[in-house]
Amino acid sequence: MIDIHSHILNNIDDGARDLEASLKMCRIAQENGIDRIVATPHVRTMDNAAAFTEKRDERIRVLRERLAEESIAVEIFPGAEVFIDDDIFFADDLTRLTINSSRYLLVEFSFRNLRLRKIYEYLDEIVKTGLVPIIAHPERYEYFQEDYDAVNSLAKNGVLFQLNAASLASLDGRREFELAYSMAYNGLASFIGTDAHSPVHRSNNIAQMMQFFPADISPHKLEVMLHDSAKAVLADEAVPRLGRKQISRR
Ligand SMILES: [Fe+2]
Repeated sequence: MIDIHSHILNNIDDGARDLEASLKMCRIAQENGIDRIVATPHVRTMDNAAAFTEKRDERIRVLRERLAEESIAVEIFPGAEVFIDDDIFFADDLTRLTINSSRYLLVEFSFRNLRLRKIYEYLDEIVKTGLVPIIAHPERYEYFQEDYDAVNSLAKNGVLFQLNAASLASLDGRREFELAYSMAYNGLASFIGTDAHSPVHRSNNIAQMMQFFPADISPHKLEVMLHDSAKAVLADEAVPRLGRKQISRR
């Protein structure tokens, strides 16, 4: 499996506390069948992307060294989880923040007080620069929980979605689970990631979490969400299409 969303790097955001925690998370990944991890530290401001990528790449270099020394067979790829607000209209370096220098950009938004119209404007701005936005954990946003049609229409416009494994395993709230399940079942999500922040709190023990996934999500869809789509992203290729159906609140 490939984990496309992980705060595996130490001392760069609120993820792994130190290098030992990063290594522990890599061991957990290996035990759980994850062999590739995209490191996606939070980026809060878009005005110093170069400084961010320099720091991130240095953390990746050190972690890779230790992984080799400890014979942990997990590969680390560069990425970012970019917080999008009005600053996006002034960002000139978005392409620096993509996953593994591909066309794909993992984004998150404010959890509150955001109008859908704003989200459309932000996503337009990203698409205009030639990038493909992947919205991280859509199921966690109240405005999507309350408006499934917004998800339908974003998907129709080419936006991709990454669910958190914990949401699908009912380890988050009920509303999070319901939207995540609906999206996974109906082919609206392209990725399942862990969004792991530490070896203990919202960890990356995905094989354990998968035991709690609803049993009626097809093995093919799971394979696409846990592996194939992320593989395409890493190679900067088109993400496989799932037979997408509209979702509606029950
Ligand atoms: Fe995250």
